[in-house]
Amino acid sequence: MYIFDIDKHGDKAVLYADLSAALAALTADEPDAIANMANAAALVWEYLPDLNWAGFYRAVGDELILGPFQGKTACIRIPFGKGVCGMAAATREPQCIADVHEFPGHIACDAYSASELVMPIIHEGRLIGVLDLDSPIRGRFDDADVTGCAELMAVLGPRIAA
Ligand code: SME
Repeated sequence: MYIFDIDKHGDKAVLYADLSAALAALTADEPDAIANMANAAALVWEYLPDLNWAGFYRAVGDELILGPFQGKTACIRIPFGKGVCGMAAATREPQCIADVHEFPGHIACDAYSASELVMPIIHEGRLIGVLDLDSPIRGRFDDADVTGCAELMAVLGPRIAA
């Protein structure tokens, strides 16, 4: 059992620093990518407030394939360039979308999703996949979330790259 002392409603910079430390500890001795993505999804699901989906899509060829996640069942394959996740994969840039209904090509997996943050995971120049966070609250994600999720994926990238 893992016990983390994390204040999910505190300052975001502190929250993400705590989450990064927890993720580093959780994945330190484990080489299996699926296990590490699964625990990472559970960790962010538990400690980031106001999410209705949190998980991973893996880059395989020129598409994204669903990986470990928490939340409702989701679409399985997303071509690069399609939807918010596909845009993050194609551009290798984070996508922070305040209102997904205004994003052309948004793929609705859960009708309650209102905002979305997708962070590409890049290791040694290679796109490994993306972290996808959905929220039922419009404008849920801000620059602190983008910076924090980039920190988290900098920790996780090397531990899911095999
Ligand atoms: N909304 C995403 C699809 C994945 S689900 O949200 C889990 C998109 O537009 O890429």
